[in-house]
Amino acid sequence: MATAEPSVEADPAFRADVLAGLRSDPRAIPARWLYDLRGSELFEEITRLPEYYPTRTERAMLETHAAEFAEEIGPGRAVIEFGSGSSLKTPLLLRAIAPAAYVPIDISGEFLMDSAQTLSRDFPDLPVFPVEADFTKRVPLPYEVSRLPKLGFFPGSTIGNFVPFSGVDFLRAMKETLDIGAMLLIGIDRIKGEEELVAAYNDAAGVTAAFNLNLLERINRELDGDMPLDAFRHRAIWNDRLARIEMHIEAIRDVAFEVAGDAFTMAEGDTIHTENSHKYGPRDARVLLRAGEWTMRREWSSPGDRFALILAEALPPRTAP
Ligand code: TRP
Repeated sequence: MATAEPSVEADPAFRADVLAGLRSDPRAIPARWLYDLRGSELFEEITRLPEYYPTRTERAMLETHAAEFAEEIGPGRAVIEFGSGSSLKTPLLLRAIAPAAYVPIDISGEFLMDSAQTLSRDFPDLPVFPVEADFTKRVPLPYEVSRLPKLGFFPGSTIGNFVPFSGVDFLRAMKETLDIGAMLLIGIDRIKGEEELVAAYNDAAGVTAAFNLNLLERINRELDGDMPLDAFRHRAIWNDRLARIEMHIEAIRDVAFEVAGDAFTMAEGDTIHTENSHKYGPRDARVLLRAGEWTMRREWSSPGDRFALILAEALPPRTAP
């Protein structure tokens, strides 16, 4: 250990999640901790990789089907984007449908202000009301959009990063945020051949590996850890039973280390689970949405059905079975 004192900037929630995650069986650390500054940069790089088809595919679909979005959704809605990040997809949608307002919701206030400013430059006449909030819970929307019809926007197949149980909770929270009568445009990645899926999460250039292993560097830096980086490797595994890609950090030899003063050991082949990306067939996606109280209205699917954009609506509740 380098010093006896834990580093000053350590987030107590990060410390608690890492220590609990390293002690649990199986070992698992919540994916949100992958996204420090370096992690966010590496993630942007992932979206441009030749093997990583989802971003490219979804953007192409947003361009190709612009006229159909305009026809189904119509003008004058407030577009509420969940987890807007630095989204490059938003302008494509906004250009297609002539909305009345744009509300980006993100947990990172800094990111939010940056992208809201960039967007305002491209759409000078569009009122933008950024909201810094955890969008997995119901979010009170700005007063200015309360009377406008709403369209939720949730691209990137981010719904796949939730286990279905939490994904359903989240879809319900989105409905609470947007209310009856709202629409939701959501991107969902399809189940496909294992080889193609694994390659998308384990690229030849090693960017996804660097993204995943960056978590160890963050632990060492912020939690005064001494995890030897050369004892670990990135793994992307297709779990067919749960229809998901799992990202793990695997020990390639027996290893002992300390984090925040606690001692841990891992045997060769042991892993720390860091991320899931669930994939959904056409029926699966509709059932997931229905469980989350959204009804499919129209679906667009990419050539070869590799990725889907689904337009759903929150219908008034019915009492009949
Ligand atoms: N939601 C996307 C996906 O699951 C993007 C993403 C989230 C991702 N976490 C990731 C991509 C980790 C690669 C690695 O594909």
